[in-house]
Amino acid sequence: MRAVRQHAYGEPLVVEEIDQPTVAAGESLVTIAYGAVNPLDVWIANGAVAAAGPLPRTPGCEGVGTTADGARVAFRGAGCGLVRDGAWAEQVAVPDVALAAIPAGCSDAQAAALGIPGVTAFDCLEAAEVGAGSTVLILGASGGVSTIAMQLAKAHGARVIAQTSSPNRVGQISRYCDDVVVAAADALEAEVREVAPDGVDAILDPLAGAFSEPCIKLLAAKGTLVLYGASAGPSFSFGPQEMYRKNARVVGYSGLPVAPEATARTMEALFALVAAGTLEAVISDELPFEDVNEAIQRIKDNRAGGKLLLKP
Ligand SMILES: NC(=O)c1ccc[n+]([C@@H]2O[C@H](COP(=O)([O-])OP(=O)(O)OC[C@H]3O[C@@H](n4cnc5c(N)ncnc54)[C@H](OP(=O)(O)O)[C@@H]3O)[C@@H](O)[C@H]2O)c1
Repeated sequence: MRAVRQHAYGEPLVVEEIDQPTVAAGESLVTIAYGAVNPLDVWIANGAVAAAGPLPRTPGCEGVGTTADGARVAFRGAGCGLVRDGAWAEQVAVPDVALAAIPAGCSDAQAAALGIPGVTAFDCLEAAEVGAGSTVLILGASGGVSTIAMQLAKAHGARVIAQTSSPNRVGQISRYCDDVVVAAADALEAEVREVAPDGVDAILDPLAGAFSEPCIKLLAAKGTLVLYGASAGPSFSFGPQEMYRKNARVVGYSGLPVAPEATARTMEALFALVAAGTLEAVISDELPFEDVNEAIQRIKDNRAGGKLLLKP
């Protein structure tokens, strides 16, 4: 069967013929319809994720397809694409605990675009205790996680302010939020205060770098900054008074340690919202396996503009 393969970190991925997967007890063979491309796959391909296992390996931390009995399933986690072969192949063996059922009314493509982004958005909003009456600032608003986070926060009754560095994406973003702020890091605080003079209750931050210091300044009393990525830089500094004088919190989030069973149940809840017509992922392109290195480059260059899916 055909599969994308990684033979060395930092090197281009290749498409090649490999043996059919061996399926152990407690696993199912999934025939892949789509594998999603996430920044996590890019970090892993670069060798920047210490937990990644031995090579060669098939990448792809999430995907959708059908099991031998015809059930439509999605999966992420349980080591797929990280320490065992992942979704970027015609078939893959997946631990049963990681399988989420896809209901009628939720397409394979929507399910493929929702695993990592959807669960991350759901968990980060929960970590920030976003609810009715909250004002939440969502950074990198055109991103896969942020697109879902805006919709879930609105469904919780929150006011959503979205930040983007991409003026050409304002139209897409504004469908899901109350205010869009086009701002680089140095203008972020002033631009957000234009629409929220008293600051915000919660911030979902996938950027870090120069963005996080103004975020901490923007937190209102008892506000929470959830850091879940570092797309704009690996570190930042801030004045401690900005936090302790406001009883503010900075919390981190990683989906990697979350139990696959819990992740699968959250995915099923999100798929139900898609089927009900109240949630949608923005899919920017569907590419063949042969274009995998182009997909990775688009994410590195912030040219994706929505979820990228790979298909066999
Ligand atoms: N901790 C976890 O469990 C977890 C889970 C999922 C993702 N993540 C991390 O969260 C981040 C976002 O993931 P995603 O799937 O939403 O990614 P994505 O779809 O590639 O979107 C990221 C968005 O961030 C903005 N952006 C990207 N690079 C930027 C830069 N250098 N400076 C300023 N803005 C930039 C862009 O939005 P605009 O063009 O609208 O500004 C982009 O659309 C990634 O770093 C990823 O590794 C972490």
